Amino acid sequence: MDKFVIDGGRRLCGTLRAQSAKNAVLPLLAASILTEQRVTIDEVPMIADVTCMAQILRELGAEVTFSEGNATIDSANATEHRISSALTKELRSSVFMLGSLLSRFRRAACAYPGGCDIGLRPIDLHLNALKRMGVEIEEREGYILCACDRLKGADIVLDFPSVGATENILLAAVKAEGRTTIAGAAKEPEIVDLQNFLNAMGAKIAGAGTDTVEIEGVDRLFGIEYRPIKDRIEAGTYLLACAACGGEVEIEGVHGECLGLLLHKLRENGCKIHTKNDKIRIASYGRLKCNRRIETMPFPGFPTDLQAQATAVNAAAEGCALIVENLFETRYKYVPELKKMGADIEVNGRNAFVRGVARLHGATVSCGDLRGGAALVIAALGAEGVSEVLDLSHLDRGYFDLSGNLKKLGAEIKRVRV
Ligand code: UD1
Repeated sequence: MDKFVIDGGRRLCGTLRAQSAKNAVLPLLAASILTEQRVTIDEVPMIADVTCMAQILRELGAEVTFSEGNATIDSANATEHRISSALTKELRSSVFMLGSLLSRFRRAACAYPGGCDIGLRPIDLHLNALKRMGVEIEEREGYILCACDRLKGADIVLDFPSVGATENILLAAVKAEGRTTIAGAAKEPEIVDLQNFLNAMGAKIAGAGTDTVEIEGVDRLFGIEYRPIKDRIEAGTYLLACAACGGEVEIEGVHGECLGLLLHKLRENGCKIHTKNDKIRIASYGRLKCNRRIETMPFPGFPTDLQAQATAVNAAAEGCALIVENLFETRYKYVPELKKMGADIEVNGRNAFVRGVARLHGATVSCGDLRGGAALVIAALGAEGVSEVLDLSHLDRGYFDLSGNLKKLGAEIKRVRV
């Protein structure tokens, strides 16, 4: 297991191009088995979640090859509809496979999905929607077994705009009989990207990015080559790292509108933000001010996947901040680790009250989940002295070459084998 050794206090300066979005690429990989023809996804980041999803596809009998940064999936010989519990538990996105497996084989079986331990993360919305489309679902010995004679279009109302449920329904509905309407759909840019991908394959979907998505089932989908959108959460993480350390950083590949509320919050901190086309530039000089309040919400609200990183920035800013986490129940597990670095944060249920300190100090801390781990790295980069960040496997799930990118920007960070 590797660790980062970070000597904090260096300014970050330079330009980075964002990787393709983890949360776009994973559903696209799941969607790739909707056709027997070859699908190529360009610029796929070699992060652990992608490797795991590729492994799931191979288990089904698909051929998956990575070459020059692209992934090619040939599922002509795929016959298996069951995902082993070891792989399902490693990756929450394995749940998307239910929709695409049902589309392809009328059968699907997987264990309850894993992923970051940040809350209860039920999948009732996914399963209820599939039932409305004519799928029979049985839960036996930790497995979800799904079967149907045919998938039927349905009017589905989501009680909460779940990203995964919206994507799963798209995957199930794309070749279903008739029309499916999703009311109360999630509006994240990654859902628009999935719509664009599926439409390029021959699907008839409209409305992604709004509350209502309409899918007219088609008989066949075709192989394509596709370039996914860039990772707004990775981009936001580097912007917050620059905010914490001071300096000037430009991120290429992400439009400002995808990170609207983060950019507003960074301006509140005292950073200068400039956006042009798909470039975002941040300049951070002098002591930052705390945000009065950051409340996570479904898109276009403040993303829960940047909550921990923003809390790390506030921990060493002037004043007090109230952070409210509305999406996941236990997304403050990184706080005790931040406290080892001198942060003054009180957690009470969904709220975290941050009293900014003059400076954090180096400490040995452990990542407990992907974004919480990113928060610890940001805190260590801005802190005085040396920190060790352990348990990097969580970070490897979502950030490709985090230490290399930060080093390029001037950070003093080493990845060391322990
Ligand atoms: C996706 C993202 C994740 C992000 C999250 C919220 C991927 C691979 N992951 O996760 O990075 O943090 O969106 O933006 O895209 N819920 C239910 N029942 C369900 C489904 C969800 O109650 O059947 C609840 C969840 O417990 C949570 C909320 O809805 O409280 C949001 O979850 P959801 O949008 O589904 O998140 P994911 O798709 O798991």
